[in-house]
Formats: sequence, C-alpha cells, structure tokens
Amino acid sequence: MIPFNAFVEVVAYAAGAALLVGAVGVSALYALRGRSITALLAVVSAATVLATVAGIVAITLKMLISDHDRSVALTVTVIGGLVGLGVSLLLGRRLIGGTRSLLVSVRAAGEGGRFGPPERRLPAELAELGAELSAAYERLDAARARERALETSRRELVAWVSHDLRTPLAGLRAMAEALEDEVVADEVTVRQYHAQMRAETDRLTAMVDDLFELSRIHAGALRLSRQRVGLGDLVSETVAGTEPLARAKGVRLRGQAEGVLPVEVDAAELGRALRNLVVNAIRHTPEDGGVEIVAGAEEGMAYVTVSDACGGIPDEDLPRLFDVAFRGETARTPGGGAGLGLAIARGIVEAHAGEIGVSNAGGGCRFVVRLPLGV
Ligand SMILES: Nc1ncnc2c1ncn2[C@@H]1O[C@H](COP(=O)(O)OP(=O)(O)OP(=O)(O)O)[C@@H](O)[C@H]1O
Ligand SMILES: [Mg+2]
Repeated sequence: MIPFNAFVEVVAYAAGAALLVGAVGVSALYALRGRSITALLAVVSAATVLATVAGIVAITLKMLISDHDRSVALTVTVIGGLVGLGVSLLLGRRLIGGTRSLLVSVRAAGEGGRFGPPERRLPAELAELGAELSAAYERLDAARARERALETSRRELVAWVSHDLRTPLAGLRAMAEALEDEVVADEVTVRQYHAQMRAETDRLTAMVDDLFELSRIHAGALRLSRQRVGLGDLVSETVAGTEPLARAKGVRLRGQAEGVLPVEVDAAELGRALRNLVVNAIRHTPEDGGVEIVAGAEEGMAYVTVSDACGGIPDEDLPRLFDVAFRGETARTPGGGAGLGLAIARGIVEAHAGEIGVSNAGGGCRFVVRLPLGV
C-alpha cells in the first residue's frame, strides 16, 4: 500500500508533466490548425504518449525506482503509444478518404449536374453532410428548372407581343395611308375604316396596359389601396361591365352572391382580376351557353367562382394556364389575346394573400378565387 503523502506526490508530478505536455500539444494543434486531419491526430497521440512518458520519468526519478523497472514501464508506454499513433493515422486516412470522395462527388456535380453521394461507407457526420448536399443540389435543380421555365415564357411573351403589336400596327398604317391618299373615298368605307382604326387602337392600348400591369406585379410594385367592400358588389359591378360583351356574343351571364361577404381589397385591382376571368369565360363559351359567377364564404374564406361552358380545358394545359404568355392552341389566332389576363389575375389575387385555381366541371371549366374574409 502506497503512503498517502507519496500518492499525492505521484498525482502532482503526473498532473504537472501531463499539463506541460498538454499545453505544448494544444499550441502545436493551434499552429497546425490548417493542416491535414492526419497530422492533427498524430499530434493528439504523440501528446498522449509524451504526457504518460513524462509522468513516468518524473515519478521514477523522484521515487528512485530501479533503472530496470523504469525501462520496462517506458517500453510498455512507448509500445502503447506507437499502436495509438498507428490507429490515429488509420483513422486520419479514413477521414481523408471520406472527405476526398465527397469532394469528388461535388466536383462531378459541377455547375449544372446532379449530385450523387459517394458509394463508400462514410463516418456519420460526413454521411450527414453528403445527404444535406444531396438535398441542396435537388433544391437548386428545382429552382433552376423554375427559372428556365420563366425565362422561356418571358422569351415567348416578347416574341408574341411584338408579333401581336406589329400586325395591328401594319393594319392601322395601311388604313391611314388609304385614307390619306383618298384611295377609299366612299363615305361608308371611310366610316368603317375609322371605326376599325379606333377598335385596333383600343386593343393595342389594352395590351400595353396589361403589359404595364404585369411588369408592376413582377417588380412587386403593385400598391394596393385596400378598402372594406362587399364581394357581392364587386361581382355585380363585374357582371354589369361585361354584360355588353356577353350580349354581343349571345351568352347568358348570371351573377349571384350569398350574404354580405366583407373583404379588405383594392376594388379596382380585384375588379380587374374578376373581369379578366369573366371575359375569358364569355370568349370561350359558345353562343347560347351560360356563364355563372357565384360569390360565397366557406371555412373563413370568401370565394368567387366563374363557371363557363367552354367544353373543358385539356388536362395538360391546366397547370400552365396562369403562366405569362400561355394561350391555348385555339387562342393563337389573329385577334386573340396575348395570354396575359390570367397571369395578371393570379398576380393580383396573390397580392391580396388569396389563391386562384381552375378545374374542369360539367361542360366547361370553373375558376375559383379565394380571399381572406375581412373581420
Ligand atoms: N374560361 C376559359 N375557358 C377555356 N379556356 C380558357 C378560359 N380562360 C382561359 N383559357 C385558356 O387560357 C389561356 C390563357 O388565358 P389568358 O386570359 O391568360 O390569355 P388570353 O385570354 O389568351 O389573352 P388576354 O387575356 O391577354 O387577352 C387562353 O388563351 C385560353 O386558351
Ligand atoms: Mg384573357
């Protein structure tokens, strides 16, 4: 049994030696902080062995242990230390191998490629990093696809709009020249030319106005001046404003609101969105067909539905209907719209924290706008 005083002395020497070596080890780790993990692990095992050796040397000198005993203790410690160093180097190699294979995967994914996590089994933290990288690349991929789709629709918009502007402008110029040169002189034709020029100018003005509205929506510059209004009143106004168009086309138009339905909206902007929906519905409904607008409330939201008799929209078109410049095959005829109406309607509804959707129902389609009810 070792006497208590001797025991305290042993602890003090061992701790002193270990602290000294530990301090040197920490400084070495700090100096090598940018180096390879293997070098850092080597420092850790060297510090462990050195601390033990220093402790043993200090104690053996102090306690006058025989040279033979000291050599045995030191040899055992050094062998243990060498094994520890070997294991550290192996671990270092494994860590470096793992990081390298992650690096190779990231490089292979490059700018636009897909990230495939390394096939070898990685330590848990590196495997987690790989999984996170994989998820990040997937998100990046989705964002890039969205951006590409937007860019395509923007390009199409510019192409179509310039075409749609050029055609009526050429017509206007031809009519103006004919009037100027008095090629047409009879009163009926002259009046017809004037009426047509006016109609074309109105159409061009509406298109430029739509483009301006859309650019304000996309720039986030839509300033809503919200007021508390009844959704039923907005529906009545929309019906009144589109009635002449429906009558001219022989389409029955019906509006209906259930209850007061107070909403806090910019009446002019939301009216514009509803008008776009109703004008579309009238345009795509054959003569004698009906268009119905219903406003109501459910689950704390106000809603407006616009149902028509267009005969249904092809399923593959449904998800793209609200995209800028999207117009169905049948609409790509001279005099058709520019494909801005629904993109504007969606922009306005979303600016009101609402949602807009479409589905085929009965012999036509139904657009639904949902808005938070005003309290
Ligand atoms: N009520 C509807 N019934 C059937 N198809 C519709 C209806 N509303 C929209 N669509 C389809 O969606 C397309 C996009 O509509 P949108 O209102 O955005 O553009 P547009 O009416 O063609 O042109 P614009 O509104 O700019 O004058 C239309 O071209 C049409 O093919
Ligand atoms: Mg439209």
